[in-house]
Amino acid sequence: MYHAIISGTGSALGAQKVTNEDLSHKLDTSDAWIQERTGIQSRYLAQEGQTTASLAYDAACKALEDAAVAATDVDLIVVATATPDMHFPSVATQVQGMLDIKKCTALDVSAACSGFLYALDTAFNKIQLGQAKKALVIGAEVLSRIVNWEDRATAVLFADGAGAVLLEATEETQGVIGVDIYSDGSFGDLLKTVGGPGSSGQQGLIEMQGREVFKQAVSKLAEVVDFSLEKYNFKAEDIDFLVPHQANKRIIDATAKKLKLDASKVVLTVSEHANTSAASVPLALDTANKEGKFKKGDLLLLEAFGAGFTWGSSLIRWQK
Ligand code: UT7
Repeated sequence: MYHAIISGTGSALGAQKVTNEDLSHKLDTSDAWIQERTGIQSRYLAQEGQTTASLAYDAACKALEDAAVAATDVDLIVVATATPDMHFPSVATQVQGMLDIKKCTALDVSAACSGFLYALDTAFNKIQLGQAKKALVIGAEVLSRIVNWEDRATAVLFADGAGAVLLEATEETQGVIGVDIYSDGSFGDLLKTVGGPGSSGQQGLIEMQGREVFKQAVSKLAEVVDFSLEKYNFKAEDIDFLVPHQANKRIIDATAKKLKLDASKVVLTVSEHANTSAASVPLALDTANKEGKFKKGDLLLLEAFGAGFTWGSSLIRWQK
């Protein structure tokens, strides 16, 4: 069995920064409400010419550069997205084409806001089995194109961006300790798109019962982080950084409080990026990496919760 380390990270954002104040001119909302209920101050929205695939490609290029690895050495691309630009080809194969990689395995996974953990799990397993050596694991979304811009309850939450990591096989060093992912389809109606896509020819728009989703997110995340620490034989005090899905600062605070983590150990980007679904965890990882927050050997706990419901966590020893 091989191990896997993160050797590079990268990210990309929608080209237009939109503040809460900007949104309050179009919707019956306010900066005070959005900040108090979510912690969000701004978000980045894709502009004409930006697509899920182009954001994924930009993030992938930066991750390759950070790892000092040539695109032609990549043998696996896994893209997590809930907003592919088209039904097919997949975003992963579009990225492969843009990177001019003539032969590799490329696939998309769909698990909404937990998508990056699902993609990481897929790549980690293939690396462990010796089926891949250098994998681009990407979360990319253009959620602004499936937001109902007349619904203030959801329009203020979601945004566009992409994050990528390069996951490399090694024989000696353990980076990824474990990834655990779960789903429960009985909650599907609480957070879904309505009115498409596909045969109807329409684009489905996001609909969410926020309060119920909030409750489930807090309880499932508490459960999964406990389970993960126990499974891999760690204590909460061993965690150097929590890298959570960035949906709502109050959800993140609840997980940090449960783990008794000081705020300095929590990577928080929701205030600037808002909820970028599958892109949020790798975007947060890249932001913290670029800020020089992590040092070699740090223990990171990644977690996410999203539509489906899907949720999951991963413990990673930072080896960069
Ligand atoms: O990433 C995938 C998973 N998603 C999540 O984890 C999101 C989970 N849910 C949440 O983060 C929160 O439920 C929200 C941020 C979506 C909403 O916060 P809340 O504290 O649960 O508010 P609420 O839905 O209970 O609404 C409270 C009030 C309502 O008014 P009334 O009925 O009390 O008069 C809403 O109509 O706030 C009103 N409201 C707003 N007011 C100003 C809802 N949206 C807005 C808004 N601006 N944008």
